[in-house]
Amino acid sequence: MKPHPTVAKSSPTLHGRNRGAFQRKLLAGCTTISMIFPSTILQRGFAQEAKNTKPSVQDAAVRQRADALLQQMTPEEKAGQLSQLFLFTKPDATMESRIAKGQVGSLLFVTDPSVINHLQHVAVEQSRLHIPLIFGFDVIHGLQTIFPVPIAMAASWDPDTIERAQAAAAKEARAVGIDWAFAPMVDIARDPRWGRIVEGAGADPYLGSAVAAAQVRGFQGAYIGAPDHIVACAKHFAGYGAAEGGRDYDSVDLSDAQLRNVYLPPFKSAVDAGVGTIMSAYMDLNGVPATGNRWLLHDVLRDEWKFGGFVVSDADAVNNLQTHGFAADKADAAMRAFTAGVNMEMALNKDAYDNLPAAYKAGKINSEQLDAAVRPILETKIRLGLFENPYVDEARAAQVLGATEQKQESLRAAERSAVLLRNEHALLPLQGSGNRNIAVIGPLADSKRDITGPWVFVNKEQESVSVLEGLKQIAPQGTQFTYSQGVQISRKFPSMFDAIFGGDKTPVWTEAEQKQEFDKAVQTARSADVVVMVLGERQNMDGEAASRSSLELPGRQQELLEAVAATGKPVVLVMMSARPLELRWASKNIPAILDVWYPGTEGGIAIANLLYGKAVPAGKLPYDWPRDVGQVPIFYSHDVTHQPEKQGTRYWNEESTPLFPFGYGLSYTNFQFSNLHINHDQIHRGEGLDVAVDVRNSGTVTADEVAQLYLHQQSGTSSRPVRELKGFHRVTVAPGETQTVHFNLDTADLTYWSAATRSWVQDDTRFDLWVGDDSNASLHSGFTVAP
Ligand code: NOJ
Repeated sequence: MKPHPTVAKSSPTLHGRNRGAFQRKLLAGCTTISMIFPSTILQRGFAQEAKNTKPSVQDAAVRQRADALLQQMTPEEKAGQLSQLFLFTKPDATMESRIAKGQVGSLLFVTDPSVINHLQHVAVEQSRLHIPLIFGFDVIHGLQTIFPVPIAMAASWDPDTIERAQAAAAKEARAVGIDWAFAPMVDIARDPRWGRIVEGAGADPYLGSAVAAAQVRGFQGAYIGAPDHIVACAKHFAGYGAAEGGRDYDSVDLSDAQLRNVYLPPFKSAVDAGVGTIMSAYMDLNGVPATGNRWLLHDVLRDEWKFGGFVVSDADAVNNLQTHGFAADKADAAMRAFTAGVNMEMALNKDAYDNLPAAYKAGKINSEQLDAAVRPILETKIRLGLFENPYVDEARAAQVLGATEQKQESLRAAERSAVLLRNEHALLPLQGSGNRNIAVIGPLADSKRDITGPWVFVNKEQESVSVLEGLKQIAPQGTQFTYSQGVQISRKFPSMFDAIFGGDKTPVWTEAEQKQEFDKAVQTARSADVVVMVLGERQNMDGEAASRSSLELPGRQQELLEAVAATGKPVVLVMMSARPLELRWASKNIPAILDVWYPGTEGGIAIANLLYGKAVPAGKLPYDWPRDVGQVPIFYSHDVTHQPEKQGTRYWNEESTPLFPFGYGLSYTNFQFSNLHINHDQIHRGEGLDVAVDVRNSGTVTADEVAQLYLHQQSGTSSRPVRELKGFHRVTVAPGETQTVHFNLDTADLTYWSAATRSWVQDDTRFDLWVGDDSNASLHSGFTVAP
């Protein structure tokens, strides 16, 4: 048996001893049914694209420089570097004095370049060792120019688009002096009640890993410190997306197999892509708070994965170790987090980590531990060039923010993210001639605020383009638009972000106004040729502390939809939300449904381009779309268990399939998949495979298709999911053209964490393989893995 080139391809991330062990095992072969790998082996093939490598001679120089500083630092100054504080308002004398005393290493939520420069001057000129601050911010999907929300970008199934978008976001951030994004959020989310589903890449570890790596590359560029780039932060480590009941911050209970096979891979992928920082999660993981969880933060992250950056806690998560019923007091909380592996405390006020110098003096922690915690923070500041160039050019910042270049990237990403869920009788794209009068209806149809989604704080709302505005710009001359909001929608309990940053101040309609607006909307529909309804959730209905117990369209939107449809006019439903909302009725009664997520600053233009066929939808769902909330969690990659589904064995009142499957999305053209070919019917463990398939565009427009490859392992050490995504490619195909798409499967794709052996295994077994346009792909083949 020869080692497969895959090993070499993945090897940059396998450090010395482990790589040797892995290769020895490969060469020695195995006599048992399965092959057991060292736990470092979970390569997903995205790492080879990472561009984080800096010559090691520079690594040594960076370390020497950090160590030289450490030698001069007092315990208080070291604790200062481990301290990150929020600053929502203008800095006051207390804050400046803390910075001058070296008690603060980082600030977050400062976005004004003049304030950043001012505070940096205090740090660099007044602190004893002149160590600059590192400024962090939630650059989740843009700073001033807002890109589609992360779940939307995942729906593009296009790592290149995602990388470009986050690079453009990084450029704006760096221009104002923000050095560090608290993104990407790489939490797998399989429960759409969880509001933070909007911030991640959805339900699948393979797609999630590809998206995680792309985002890290986008934010950081070729290396940490690359011009116009910033440091990324993969969060929230780990398991946060599996909150019980989808309730934000609630506990998480995950088996080791779930963690290793589903929830950890995107983090591993981010680490392999060179992510500079990791944020610890808020909740308990299997009874141990993630922020005090040494197994996660040390054993897995540092020992197994060789992560060399630093860990920041989530906001006040160190202090909150008391709330968990875990730490006895603040000093204990600091000790628990620090010894678990949290380098930096993110705190609303200088807090638990204040206790570290005393803990050091009392001998509870030693100088090696303290230095090990501070070193990667200093190294990151050095790599970023903050010691040489601590200040930003405020005039340049003004030119970079909101520049056309970023807007074009945002438009492109929005067009590539939309998912066409239904299109009966080719209602879309709209033809100019037959549709002179268009009624645009719905609470989100003319909103400049909602179109950018959550996690948006410093954009210029007036710069975003609403759907109505976009349609007016793009529609053929002579098209008449009438607009009616129809209904108002709001949260039952206020949003915490609205409380901090100010929410929408539009007065709530009286009952009489509600009736009048509803009737007006139906009347507007009656006098139109076609109706575009924009429904979904407001931007404060998704995100942190924005979970829901139901998936219904909020407010009276369903009623409005049915009333408008009852007019008999053709309706195009534009869905604006992050979670899959209840569409059972619409999926039978509304001829065209386009899911646009929250598409960002240029959203209105992107949607209009899509509706008029100037762009062709090619996005694919990054999760299964449930029929109703009672099916949650539902995902295609479940185990078969006792018997395959026969009608009524899972639910007697409802199908157990999703309304739309994972990977699903229509186009304005038709694609056929054929000639599925695998280069070997049998391989040996450790070897790889090439798979080829033809994708033909039999329609009349050039369009993109996402070819998706799924595997099922027929037997082995553990039961394996009925299907799992193991490859995808988004390709552009001209009308009448056929393209051959190639996939490369390697050992990592055939390896999984077995709960039986508590290790990575590759079994000798038969695999089914499907390729197609969603997770129900029917083009089938298979291969065998032999010892
Ligand atoms: C809490 C959130 O959980 C985290 O994602 C975010 O980065 C921090 N707050 C800072 O805003």
